[in-house]
Amino acid sequence: MKSAIIYYSFTGNTHRIACLFADILKNKGEEAVLVRIRPLKEEAAFLKQCKEAFLGKKPELYRTLLDIKDFDRVIIGSPVWAFKPAPAINTYIEQCGSLQGKTAICFVTYGSGVGKNRALESMKKALVAKGARIAGTVSFQQSENKKQCRKKLSEML
Ligand SMILES: Cc1cc2nc3c(=O)[nH]c(=O)nc-3n(C[C@H](O)[C@H](O)[C@H](O)COP(=O)(O)O)c2cc1C
Repeated sequence: MKSAIIYYSFTGNTHRIACLFADILKNKGEEAVLVRIRPLKEEAAFLKQCKEAFLGKKPELYRTLLDIKDFDRVIIGSPVWAFKPAPAINTYIEQCGSLQGKTAICFVTYGSGVGKNRALESMKKALVAKGARIAGTVSFQQSENKKQCRKKLSEML
């Protein structure tokens, strides 16, 4: 099974989980490619970040891996921003090729946990619309330690 782990991370929490996913897959002898996406103009003001996420904006991204036809599975990760995924994730899912015949796993990292299920639902809906079959979703509180995260991931992979 070949997986593409595609994620956006502003302050590093989602990045850490994405790396853990890659680590666990590698230890299982599976191939995994990490793809960190980033908007060309990265919004840094909290309220603007919330507004753009809440409105489901799709900012232009730096050039990235969009053709994922060679992968069997896509693992998509985002922080929860105002009950939604970060805007870069919306752009990515819209622009990546067809996900027909692929499985997808969505993950989010969050602070208080308010809106985490809504954010996951929104990611799932967008992925299903591209043809993916959702194999699982998982969420991580920003202060969960590595051991707890690893355990959660190992159980689902
Ligand atoms: C703009 C913004 C909006 C956020 N909105 C929420 C939210 O609605 N619910 C929540 O539980 N956490 C929220 N958080 C906290 C982040 O989801 C959490 O810190 C996450 O782990 C950050 O991931 P990152 O370090 O990969 O950027 C928000 C953080 C930011 C910056």
